[in-house]
Amino acid sequence: MTQSAGSIRFILNDRDVTLTSVSPTGTLLDFLRLERRLTGTKEGCAEGDCGACTVLVGRLAGDDLVYESVNACIRFTGSLNATHVVTVEHLAAKDGTLHPVQQAMVDYHGSQCGFCTPGFVMSLYGLWLSKDNPGRADIEKTLQGNLCRCTGYEPIVKAAEAVAHARPDAVFDPIVKARADIAARLKAMRSDKTISLGDESGKLIVPGSVLALAEVLDTYPQATIVAGCTDVGLWVTKQMREINPVIFVNGIEELQSIQETKDGITIGAGVSYSAAFDLISARYPAFGRLLDRLGGEQVRNMGTIGGNVANGSPIGDTPPPLIALGASVTLRSKSGQRTVPLEDYFIEYGRQDRKPGEFVESIFVPNLPDGDLFSVYKISKRRDEDISALCGAFRIALDSDNRVTMARIAFGGMAGTPKRATNVEAVLIGTLWNEETVEAAQAAFEADYQPLTDWRATAAYRMLAAKNLLLRFFLETSGERAELVRFEVTA
Ligand SMILES: Cc1cc2nc3c(=O)[nH]c(=O)nc-3n(C[C@H](O)[C@H](O)[C@H](O)COP(=O)(O)OP(=O)(O)OC[C@H]3O[C@@H](n4cnc5c(N)ncnc54)[C@H](O)[C@@H]3O)c2cc1C
Ligand code: FES
Ligand code: FES
Repeated sequence: MTQSAGSIRFILNDRDVTLTSVSPTGTLLDFLRLERRLTGTKEGCAEGDCGACTVLVGRLAGDDLVYESVNACIRFTGSLNATHVVTVEHLAAKDGTLHPVQQAMVDYHGSQCGFCTPGFVMSLYGLWLSKDNPGRADIEKTLQGNLCRCTGYEPIVKAAEAVAHARPDAVFDPIVKARADIAARLKAMRSDKTISLGDESGKLIVPGSVLALAEVLDTYPQATIVAGCTDVGLWVTKQMREINPVIFVNGIEELQSIQETKDGITIGAGVSYSAAFDLISARYPAFGRLLDRLGGEQVRNMGTIGGNVANGSPIGDTPPPLIALGASVTLRSKSGQRTVPLEDYFIEYGRQDRKPGEFVESIFVPNLPDGDLFSVYKISKRRDEDISALCGAFRIALDSDNRVTMARIAFGGMAGTPKRATNVEAVLIGTLWNEETVEAAQAAFEADYQPLTDWRATAAYRMLAAKNLLLRFFLETSGERAELVRFEVTA
């Protein structure tokens, strides 16, 4: 193992911070509010939903300095090495002059009770820093992860539109002018040495490379790997779970890469949804549209596809499209690598094909062959920032006679794991792609799935919705007019 270094170092607003003692699961929100008395960052839900705790985290991506909004309530302080944390206190000038984003919120009455306001300001500030002339769609996407119970949102959107044209280089701003200096400071904080803090009663480890991670996991096979922390954070803030030791992998550069080859794309396990969005949207547009509805902007900036897969949740959104696309997952340990088809990685509820000492290194997604029909549908109670009741992905190939030659259909929310609908597929293959075939295949869902009833949906609703999604896929891909489908749920 590479030699250990003994501190977490980052920049907080304009100051360098060096921490030699950090709780493995201490949150950035608690650090800001309780230790640094930076109480502009608020706690609303403590589960990544409301955005009251939004701050920006800047990091080097190659030589670029990238700032993203994150939820401080579920981000662990130990994951911040070599980053720049920016809180709402950093925005106004020293003489009290408000930042243009803040001033626009005042001018357009974007704040009433004010509790959500610092979070909105930080989300809008992140957009303002990163995008020239954002449109309404950009603004709404940016604000998916910020809730306001008072304003009705319109004044906030108007403030965002008004400030969109006050470009960063034309006005006072604490980051724009200091970019080169911040980048140099972050570079100096980077290290490929493994950081290891604490003792057996509370240990956090930050490996500097994939090989170091394999070494660390060999020593601590029971450790919890933390990537974006958008699942693990809630185990701590909501379930009050003690997690020890914790291994932070979000800083490992090798896990951050997305490689395009002639056969497909390989997504490193540490790649966030936001980082993967453009490429996935370009290659598999329906998958991109799904990612747009996964969490809010802060969750997409933190959360990884690797974490979504590794977690093995039956309602994770990415496994159904990944399985339909024929993806595989590569696992690594000290003794080497192995690759398994993603559908085989999920064994049963709560159990995945990951041996002690192994971690998810990457996910390979093959190209969608020309002519294949592919779509993904997420069913949830709210359009944005809601967990799926069910999520279905469909991919078929047709021959020149309109006969189905290949079918890969996978669902989340219908079984204890993300699972293929092999019986439905069997009915489809070899038959003409028409409504009679679809009707026959709909019945086969009963053989593939026995869904549960829970607070998201009843078993009967899930089954009916899955069947109707196949019909929707048919109607959308065959250009036929959708007929009114009667909603019949029994018991
Ligand atoms: C507000 C909110 C909204 C959300 N909305 C959605 C949604 O719409 N759809 C959805 O699918 N999910 C949603 N999630 C859940 C979560 O964002 C995703 O599951 C995310 O992909 C998890 O990735 P992560 O990097 O944050 O994982 P983490 O929380 O860091 O880890 C999750 C699990 O994976 C393991 N792990 C992580 N990386 C590796 C690795 N490289 N090797 C082995 N194990 C690893 C961890 O040990 C842990 O068991 C939401 C979460 C929040 C807080
Ligand atoms: S406090 Fe609600 S998202 Fe963090
Ligand atoms: S102004 Fe009150 S919650 Fe937004």
